[in-house]
Amino acid sequence: MKKIKKILNLKNKRKIVCLTSYSYNITSILDKYCDIVLVGDSLANVLYGMDNTHNINLNTMIQHALSVKKKIRRSLFIIDLPKGTYANPSIALKNSKYLMKKTGCHGVKIESNKKNYNVIKRLTKAKIPVMGHIGYTPQSKNKFKIYGEDAKGKKKLIKEALKIENSGAFSIVLECISKKAAKNITKTLKIPTIGIGSSVFCDGQILVTDDIIGLSGFKPKFVKKYSDVYKLINSAVKRYSKDVKEKKFPTTKNTF
Ligand code: KIV
Repeated sequence: MKKIKKILNLKNKRKIVCLTSYSYNITSILDKYCDIVLVGDSLANVLYGMDNTHNINLNTMIQHALSVKKKIRRSLFIIDLPKGTYANPSIALKNSKYLMKKTGCHGVKIESNKKNYNVIKRLTKAKIPVMGHIGYTPQSKNKFKIYGEDAKGKKKLIKEALKIENSGAFSIVLECISKKAAKNITKTLKIPTIGIGSSVFCDGQILVTDDIIGLSGFKPKFVKKYSDVYKLINSAVKRYSKDVKEKKFPTTKNTF
């Protein structure tokens, strides 16, 4: 597929730009600047206020993906397979086909549990592009930590990354992986690495859009806040509330 090839060709040429989107309006902005737009299962925490990503289901992912799809023109459009939807290769194939048919997405992302390489093999054999995900994988790990800090950890990660590449994935997210391990994996793999909290040495970067625009209030070390949308919305709603109470809105300008 042309869009996947374009991403593969960016390795060692220029950095790959990725962000998450769960909605139509945000996608209309992202699509202008991003190589990859991901409907991440982070929408469980970010949009639905859930404690983790464990209970978001495929149909909710599809609903959001359908709104994203309406504004995708140029970016590669990837959707997270939520927890429980790729427990074995046949379940994964059935759900991925359903997801792709319903949303027209270009591929799926799955989190590695060091055992599900056969899922990647099965999907890629069926020509479904797969993005892997290693390091901090929120569907199976509750504890947030940095992965690959010691020699043993680094070795384990490179082995896992190579297995994912050899299973046919077209790229791999490295989440919260030490700089040295991320550099080593990126140098070793032929497919692009997309980092989140994993240093500048990855082939590309991804963050949750609500975090970079300052809407979520989530600001770990690896996030850079580029604006304060919370403050903007707060000020707009505060002024609207005041205007309504003081009968300054609506004026004749807003009245038929
Ligand atoms: O769910 C998500 O948004 C993700 C990215 C942050 C990589 O998996």
